[in-house]
Amino acid sequence: MSNFVKINNKISRFNKRLSIDGDKSLSIRWALLSSQSFKKSKASNLLLSEDVMSTLHCLKKLGIKIKISKNFCEITGLGLNGFKYKSNLILDAGNSGTLGRLILGLLVHSKKKIELKGDESLSTRDFLRVIKPLERFGAKFNSNHGKLPIKIQGTNYTKPIKYFENKGSAQCKSAVMFAALNTFGETIIKAKKSRDHSELLFKHLRLPIKIIKRKKYDIIRVKGKHKIPALNYKIPSDISSASFFIVLTALTKNSRLEIKNININPSRMGVFYILKLMGVKISKLNIRTYKGEKIADLIINSAKNIKPINCPIKFNSSAIDEFLLIFLVAAKAKGVSYFKNLSELNQKESPRLKWGSKILNKIGIKNIVTKSSIKIYGNPNLRINKKIIIKNFLKDHRIFMTSVIAALSFGGEWQIFDKNSINTSFPSFLRKIDQLGGNIR
Ligand code: S3P
Repeated sequence: MSNFVKINNKISRFNKRLSIDGDKSLSIRWALLSSQSFKKSKASNLLLSEDVMSTLHCLKKLGIKIKISKNFCEITGLGLNGFKYKSNLILDAGNSGTLGRLILGLLVHSKKKIELKGDESLSTRDFLRVIKPLERFGAKFNSNHGKLPIKIQGTNYTKPIKYFENKGSAQCKSAVMFAALNTFGETIIKAKKSRDHSELLFKHLRLPIKIIKRKKYDIIRVKGKHKIPALNYKIPSDISSASFFIVLTALTKNSRLEIKNININPSRMGVFYILKLMGVKISKLNIRTYKGEKIADLIINSAKNIKPINCPIKFNSSAIDEFLLIFLVAAKAKGVSYFKNLSELNQKESPRLKWGSKILNKIGIKNIVTKSSIKIYGNPNLRINKKIIIKNFLKDHRIFMTSVIAALSFGGEWQIFDKNSINTSFPSFLRKIDQLGGNIR
């Protein structure tokens, strides 16, 4: 079967309801934390994507019992420091930075050497950012200049650390929090604001965690060696996956979309605040709290006039996975938009700031890109009448899906490669496009 899609028509207006797959960050965290309990934990609406399946495969290799049927999953853990595995174990994190980085946090106590590897894209990504703090717990690392494959040899005598996380990376923060779980004493983290799912899960599990929220940083204190209870969880739907459809609706005339049960954790809501400033209307209904996470149903209407934005950097971390989509909205704005301090975007599954600029060039939108910023000269009358091919993007799922949204929003004749990349985070993406009436071959 071909691994590309062809799109030759804009999507026609729609008025529909959609359901969205489970949240990736929460699915991976649920599985990793459940492995640290002696009890049986259950999840429903678990995201069954390749990143989550890689997580479950790694845990199975570490001796954890896992049962899956449809999107229900049961994990019976082996307690803190309980992994049971053969010598010379190799774990494969596939495409997942979240898995690769967080699992190292759980392996600082590994009795035998373990090798961690990943796919082509993950092997280009920086792991020094987690190796450095995790070494200070006492684990030994051997890496390929800070990249995968990595060998880790843990220690029984981990020491708590003081750590300053200054990139706004939830993966770095969470890796250290996970290492702290199994360490006597108190680990203290000063962390630039980033998604706080790990903190909320620790609180829900009544683990000894204290958080002081400052304007730009949080101070997080975790005391280790506390037994982890069962974690039964109904995973809410992923705001990052929902964002593809939020933007498609905003850019499609006379359209309306309802999506239910979306995780609206404020540390993930940058896309909301940014789109609102640009004139996109999104209503939240039925707001509730589930095990510390905020959830709501959303209604989105097409945007009439899109305003340019000088994007406040305070939203960068909470919109980090949505910038490619936000750039498409800026392409339709009446005026110049400016996004800065975004060097972290080039640390993702592909260099996304560069790719954002490439996609804009292909659709004829002038932009000026640097290592950490992009200026986008929007055109409210944007209409594409040419052939566009998107390929060689390290199979980055978000590049594929953003290109599909661009094709359906702006027209033109598109050929977009690596459609299987959607399986890393949003396997039902193309089926949802079909439900809305999008014509994809
Ligand atoms: C994630 C954190 C973010 C995000 C990634 C998922 C997480 O990465 O881009 O998709 O689940 O912690 P960084 O922490 O590197 O910013």
